[in-house]
Amino acid sequence: MSAPRKLFVKTYGCQMNVYDSERMAEQLGGQGYVTTDTPEDADMILLNTCHIREKAAEKVYSELGRLRPLKDANPDLKIGVAGCVAQAEGEEIMRRAPVVDLVVGPQSYHRLPAMDDAVRSGQRALDTDFPDDDKFDTLKSRGKAKRAPSAFLTVQEGCDKFCAFCVVPYTRGAEVSRPASRVIQEARELVDAGVAELTLLGQNVNAYHGHDGGLAGLIWDLAEIDGLERIRFTTSHPNDMDDALIAAHGECAKLMPYLHLPVQSGSDRILKAMNRKHTAESYVRLIERIRAARPDILLSGDFIVGFPGETEEDFEATMDLIRTVNYGQAYSFKYSTRPGTPAAEKPQLPEDVMNDRLQRLQALLTEQQRAIQNSMVGREVGVLFEKKGRIGGQLIGKSDYLHAVYADAPQTAIGQVRRVRIETAGPNSLGGVLVD
Ligand code: 5AD
Ligand code: SF4
Repeated sequence: MSAPRKLFVKTYGCQMNVYDSERMAEQLGGQGYVTTDTPEDADMILLNTCHIREKAAEKVYSELGRLRPLKDANPDLKIGVAGCVAQAEGEEIMRRAPVVDLVVGPQSYHRLPAMDDAVRSGQRALDTDFPDDDKFDTLKSRGKAKRAPSAFLTVQEGCDKFCAFCVVPYTRGAEVSRPASRVIQEARELVDAGVAELTLLGQNVNAYHGHDGGLAGLIWDLAEIDGLERIRFTTSHPNDMDDALIAAHGECAKLMPYLHLPVQSGSDRILKAMNRKHTAESYVRLIERIRAARPDILLSGDFIVGFPGETEEDFEATMDLIRTVNYGQAYSFKYSTRPGTPAAEKPQLPEDVMNDRLQRLQALLTEQQRAIQNSMVGREVGVLFEKKGRIGGQLIGKSDYLHAVYADAPQTAIGQVRRVRIETAGPNSLGGVLVD
């Protein structure tokens, strides 16, 4: 038998790309590839790219430049570009970067085996279709090889919301939900392979409609799976938080007390210009209802500063909203012009104004995150241990609230949810002791 070919995948951007990278590697597994951590000994290098903010394409071109010498050294090396930059600029990449053999969009990677055959026979292959055939129906099953305790599972893709700044509706296409039966089947395969925690993924995951009961209905069905200990989901739009999903946060023991619910801005004027279709007030009311269902829930958000037209007063409204909500986790960005989106037509704010606002916003969010981390000290939390830590007998895992936690624990605890009393809080992790 010939030696297996080696595949190196580099993933940029969001968790859905992490999931897609795994599935692309599985597809190419059928072509005789095994994954490697070093690009130098790879027979195929795949860059799974992100297009959400500026400079994404430039990053891809400079990475391709760095890979060039590898190709000069090994003429059999094939280089592919996948993900959202591939979707948005596939033909341009083919033109500008002769080093690239293969370009595949997020909706067509089930066709990778045929594309691999084509590039191995010396052709270049480009596929950025939104095909009628369902990618997920064609993909290989997840396989039985032992997996890490926590896994992603894509249940929904695309977005119909068309926020004025966002490329997702263009790169990932219209909102599509996978049927619940397929999701449950994949979840069982993952649990059989050792997965104890699933994070359900979608660009607009709470708009999921592959189950009569929506995302909540799917979560309740998944909660029936023995061996699945924890369920999370991301990322959500405030307008799709229905009553059943809010209630599930209080009633479903396997649904973790953590919710990523982006608001982007706290100014109604800016929210309107962003086409968010909700107000600051309606978001805060929603948070109150979620907290009534699950008082200890840890909230996470996304924020954009410097959207075109944002005044100091608008920015202060965002700061006020943050003070009202109190976030345990947050992601914040300077507005970045995306060609083809409605906001790209509007005049931009000066860079120094954006920098200043981002700094103030992040200082406030960091303060809140630290305070919530510190408030964990003395509390007992569930921790799913994932791997060995850096020190001696320590393992590292994630708490119910998604904090990284270190504790002295036996190797056998990897893959288990154990009770831990938190004793210390650092900037990036908590430390604790096992109590069960
Ligand atoms: N500029 C800055 N941030 C953006 N995001 C999406 N598009 C842009 C953009 N053009 C942020 C939003 C979104 C997160 C995934 O990325 O906050 O929720
Ligand atoms: Fe983009 Fe999210 Fe708005 Fe959809 S809901 S357009 S993915 S920011």
